[in-house]
Amino acid sequence: MRPRLALGLGCDRGTPEATLRQAIDEALAQIGAAWADVAAVASITLKADEVGLLALCRAQGWTPVFHAPEVLAQVAVPNPSETVRRHTGTPSVSEAAALLSAGCSDDPRALLVEKHRLRGPDGRHATVSVARMAQADAQVGGASGPVFGAAERLALQALMAARRDVRHFRPGATIATEVRARLLQALALAPSVGLMQPWRFVRIVSDARRQALAGLVEQERQRTAEALGERDDEFLRLKVEGLQDCAEIWVAVLPADDGTVFGRRTMPREMALCSLACAIQNLWLTARADNLGLGWVSMFEPAAVAAVLGLAEGELPVGLLCLGPAARHHDRPMLEIEGWRQRRPLHDFLVDEPSDERS
Ligand SMILES: Cc1cc2nc3c(=O)[nH]c(=O)nc-3n(C[C@H](O)[C@H](O)[C@H](O)COP(=O)(O)O)c2cc1C
Repeated sequence: MRPRLALGLGCDRGTPEATLRQAIDEALAQIGAAWADVAAVASITLKADEVGLLALCRAQGWTPVFHAPEVLAQVAVPNPSETVRRHTGTPSVSEAAALLSAGCSDDPRALLVEKHRLRGPDGRHATVSVARMAQADAQVGGASGPVFGAAERLALQALMAARRDVRHFRPGATIATEVRARLLQALALAPSVGLMQPWRFVRIVSDARRQALAGLVEQERQRTAEALGERDDEFLRLKVEGLQDCAEIWVAVLPADDGTVFGRRTMPREMALCSLACAIQNLWLTARADNLGLGWVSMFEPAAVAAVLGLAEGELPVGLLCLGPAARHHDRPMLEIEGWRQRRPLHDFLVDEPSDERS
């Protein structure tokens, strides 16, 4: 069987699709491989909006994965470069991206083409590395359950990267029954404290309730603008909900407390809420895998929403989830595109324990 290949791509800003195409052609020719052998394509987050690269991927039907520089920097590669590190924050883009996407980040021997560089007619450079993808991972230490390989990891990563908060829906669209069944199944698969499963979703399709909820959100949107002070106008220009156009609204409700003690004796409300959030994340990813959008709307007075839905005492609505075929899936968070706020660097997310010896 021919090996499945992962491409790592690097290029100057503005490199045309044709230059990238030629560089890949030449790199594949070096090892007698064909375009059809390519199963994964990766680059650095800096290139997530690189026009030629995106056009190439679209034309080939590839879903590129863009790795953060901090992640690429951890991969040991044959040809690290100080210049590349200064410009991108990692000593290697193409070699590291190819190895990561091949599922071989600790095995540089998987690189079949280390670094093929091409200068296009306009002077811009494309760099291509090619790695052989790992076979399905060996059974780990006799553990039971399914074993996942690089392809599944890539699919999961692509899904997480493509998931967006959606506020633009296709008006009049619907959700097929079998898709709704998959969404329900996703709720059943969610983790929860003490297996409490503290979630209930109220499905809204009637126009009257949809309008009532939209009215409540509009009130809160205005109050939020007032609370923001000098950024009020900027905030009011952002689209913060798609309640009118989505196929269905699922109101996420935290049910009245059932008294579960396991795992939540010291933080009962927080652990129940965290569990509900886990269920919503399952829903979010499952919806995206079904090519549906989901938008979480939290701008409302809970008591007012509870009244519209006729919720019982102790039930707390925490999200109006707008669901349905999307008119637009942004490739980055809309708040980032609109300049409201930027995502934080990865090194903020995981820190080492303090070095003192108190513990
Ligand atoms: C708990 C929660 C509440 C949210 N509420 C709103 C909201 O009311 N309106 C809105 O436009 N986005 C809302 N969002 C979406 C976030 O703004 C969005 O997830 C974030 O900007 C990152 O963008 P992305 O989800 O597209 O990656 C909410 C997200 C979460 C997790």
